[in-house]
Formats: sequence, C-alpha cells, structure tokens
Amino acid sequence: MSHWSVEIETPVELADWLSWLIAEQLDAAVEIQDEETLTRGPEPDLCRLLIRSEEEPSPAWVKGIQACLIEVGCADAPIRSRLEEDESWRLGWRAFFRPTEVAPSVIVRPPWSEASDAEVDVVIDPGMAFGTGTHATTQLAAQLIVQTLKGIPKKSVLDQGCGSGILSLIVARLGHEVVGIEIDPVATRSAIENLPLNGFTNEEVDFRSSDQVPDDSFDIVIANIIAPVLIDLSNDLRRVCQEKIILSGMLVDQEESVLKTYAGWQVEERMTHGEWVGVILTRTEEVVEDSNS
Ligand SMILES: C[S@@+](CC[C@H](N)C(=O)[O-])C[C@H]1O[C@@H](n2cnc3c(N)ncnc32)[C@H](O)[C@@H]1O
Repeated sequence: MSHWSVEIETPVELADWLSWLIAEQLDAAVEIQDEETLTRGPEPDLCRLLIRSEEEPSPAWVKGIQACLIEVGCADAPIRSRLEEDESWRLGWRAFFRPTEVAPSVIVRPPWSEASDAEVDVVIDPGMAFGTGTHATTQLAAQLIVQTLKGIPKKSVLDQGCGSGILSLIVARLGHEVVGIEIDPVATRSAIENLPLNGFTNEEVDFRSSDQVPDDSFDIVIANIIAPVLIDLSNDLRRVCQEKIILSGMLVDQEESVLKTYAGWQVEERMTHGEWVGVILTRTEEVVEDSNS
C-alpha cells in the first residue's frame, strides 16, 4: 500500500519542540530522525522530522506545519511531501534504523538486525506508526515500565495509545498480560504485524483500534499520549486502574495542568528527558472523584 510522507529538516536543538508542536497541531505522529537513530541520516547538525499519512497532505495541513515552523523561527525550512510505495519505504532509509536501548537492558531493534542479548529484546518493524523507540516520551515510559513491572508476578496492563505496540511488547516480554488500544487503525495494523516478529499472537497481546478506554479493570495503566488527550482520558484511566498509572507525553510546563486532572492519585516517581516528563501515579484515596466536571 502506498502512503504520503512529509519531511522537514530542522536544526537539532529545535527538533523536539517542533515535533511536539506539529504533533499537537495536526494530531499526527511525528518521528525524529537523526544520527542517533539512523546509521545514515541528514547532516550532523540537522534532524529530519517525518510525518506519514494515507492521504495527500491538504493545504490546511501544510499551513498548520508552516505555522509551527514560524513559531520556532524556521519559517524558511522547506516542507517536502511525496507519495511512497511501501516497498520503496521498506528498502529506503528505513533500512538504516539502529537498535536502540530504550531503557536499561531493554533493546528495541528492527527485524533485519541481529538478536541482542539484552534481557528484553523487542523487534519493531518501523512502519507508519509512532514508536520506534527513539522518542524521549517512549523512552521515559519504557524506563518507568521496567521500574514498575520487572521481576514481579503477572499483572494486567492497559497501554492506551499503543502506536506500533512498542510499550505493550516490552510489558509482554516482562511477563505480563497486556491490552493495547490505539485510535489510528494504521498504527493498530503495525502493532498487530509486530506481534509475530516477537513470537506473540493477538490472543497473548490484545491490540485493538479505539479511542475509548476499555471497560475492564487493569492493575497497571500506561498512557504515552499528548497532554490534552491525557487530560481528556483522565477520568476513564483512573476508573479502570487498580494500582499504578504511568503517564508520559507531557512537557514540563504542561505537567501541573495534566496532574490536576488525576485527583486521588499522587506522584510516586517522576523522570524527565529534556523538556519531557514521565510519572508513576499511585492512589491516595479509594473513591475516584470526577475532577474534570
Ligand atoms: C506519542 S504516541 C505513543 C506511541 C507508543 N505508545 C510509544 O510510546 O511510542 C501516542 C499514540 O496515541 C494515539 N492516540 C491518541 N489519542 C488516543 C486515544 N484517545 N485512544 C487511543 N490512542 C490514542 C496516537 O495515535 C499515537 O499513536
């Protein structure tokens, strides 16, 4: 299947900020590619931001990207879009992804690289979904997952906004039961395609397409999603979670407004990566109040 890819080259120091602005503006996953993530990438002082879409980018979409470029002072950066055949994508720069250590003893690698001897070895075919392990928010979530779930008896886990399935697969490798929910059906398809690469079936790791939090209850809930969505979902995530909520995807200056909506839960652990924050929340009280109302 062919798809559109939109590329923007940006100075390294602006990449995180710009990718976040564009993700929020377009409600789309933005991937950052640089010499850390690719064996062959753009110039050393430049990063490539990549957004993929099944539809041709509309003028409104491009205008949205331009507004973000103006905001970070890069109004002149060219925006290149092109239609890609999946096969050219597979054989193109995608082949240059490196294995990445997303958390201590957790390696995420493309299918064509050799198995690692890391305790947790997860294979992700970097398709069209967010989640090759290179983004700071994914790495924060992965570290908090290892801290919460390594070496303990089996827990039931919800991964809301599972993207390529990366965090769910780490959870499954750590020996737990996991349901991954993803609003974008293309991403859900990628997640399902990543299952056999890791020796799992869709019965063992349950990936579903939805924007709703499921009704079941879970010991642990994970959500690495942009701040406004963490706020929108706060009542549902608190309702279904029995023990701990792991949140990532918020910037330091969004932390307070997000955490305000998680009333009845307190910060047990907090980690930062650049301007991003990840937290583990635990209950402070039994009754969950509706802090959004
Ligand atoms: C920042 S990405 C994280 C992907 C992956 N979990 C990771 O850590 O790399 C957030 C994902 O949440 C999805 N998403 C946004 N709103 C959602 C909702 N209400 N329910 C489920 N998924 C949602 C997006 O499509 C995107 O794939």
